[in-house]
Amino acid sequence: MLKLQHPVVIALLIQIITLLLICFLIVSQSAIALSLFEWSLVQGLLAGLISYYTRMPAWWILIHLAFIPLAITTLALNISSTWFLVFFLCLLLIYGKTYKTQVPLYLSSKCANHALETLLPEQEQFSFVDLGSGCGGLVKNLASSRRNGIFHGIESAPLPFLISKLRSIFCASSYKVFWGDFWEYDFSKYDVIYAYLSPVPMEPLWHKVNKEMRPGSLLISNTFMIPGITPYKSIKLDDFSKSTLYLWKI
Ligand SMILES: C[S@@+](CC[C@H](N)C(=O)[O-])C[C@H]1O[C@@H](n2cnc3c(N)ncnc32)[C@H](O)[C@@H]1O
Repeated sequence: MLKLQHPVVIALLIQIITLLLICFLIVSQSAIALSLFEWSLVQGLLAGLISYYTRMPAWWILIHLAFIPLAITTLALNISSTWFLVFFLCLLLIYGKTYKTQVPLYLSSKCANHALETLLPEQEQFSFVDLGSGCGGLVKNLASSRRNGIFHGIESAPLPFLISKLRSIFCASSYKVFWGDFWEYDFSKYDVIYAYLSPVPMEPLWHKVNKEMRPGSLLISNTFMIPGITPYKSIKLDDFSKSTLYLWKI
C-alpha cells in the first residue's frame, strides 16, 4: 500500500494540482494567449517550484520541470503509439518496483569494479553477493578476475534480471543471479556483501547485516552511508560521479 507521504504520491499530486490549475486558467480567461507548449512550460515551472518548496529531492524537481513539456513535444513528433507502448513496458520491467524499493537502476562505474577487485582475496575461497545486481555486469567482471570466489547477484527488476541471467548462461566465468527481493535472502553465507542502492534502505540493511552476517565479514556500500555508523575504511573513486566506497567490518 502506498503511503500519502511517499514521494511518488506527492509527485502525482503536484502534477494533478498544477495541471488542473493550468486547465482552469486556459478556460477561464482569454487575456493571456499562449500556445499549448508555452502553457506546458508554465505548468512545468509551477510544478518545479512546488516540489522545491515541499523539499523534494533535486531529481524530482527536474522531473517536474520537464515532464509535461517533454510529453507535449513528444506528442508533436507523431511517433507511432506502438513505440510508446514498447517504451512504457521496458520502463515498467526495469523501474516498475522502484515505487516500493526506492532504489532505481544505475550501474557501478569501471572504477568501482576495479576498486572492488583489489578488495577481494586473491587466493582464499570467499563468497560475494551484489544486492540488486542490475544487469549483472559487476558480478560478471569480478567472477572473471577472481576465480577463487563464489559470486551471486540478487535482482528484483524483471528485465535487468533476464539480461543478467542470459549473460551468465553465455559467459565463461561462473556466477549465479537470483530473481527476487534481497530482504528475503539469508546473508549468513556471504563473506562480502556489496550494495549500490540509495539512502532509503541503508538503515534497515545495517540491522539485517548485523543480525545475519558472520563476524569478520564485510559490507561494502557504493556512495550511500549508513546513518550514524562510521565505516572503518572509505575509498574515493575517480569516476564520473566522484563516488566513494564505504567499508564496514562486522
Ligand atoms: C543502483 S542499481 C545497482 C546495480 C548493480 N549492483 C551495479 O552496481 O551496477 C540497484 C539495483 O537494485 C535493485 N533492487 C533494489 N531493491 C531491491 C531488492 N529489495 N531486491 C532485489 N533487487 C533490488 C534495483 O532493481 C536495481 O537494479
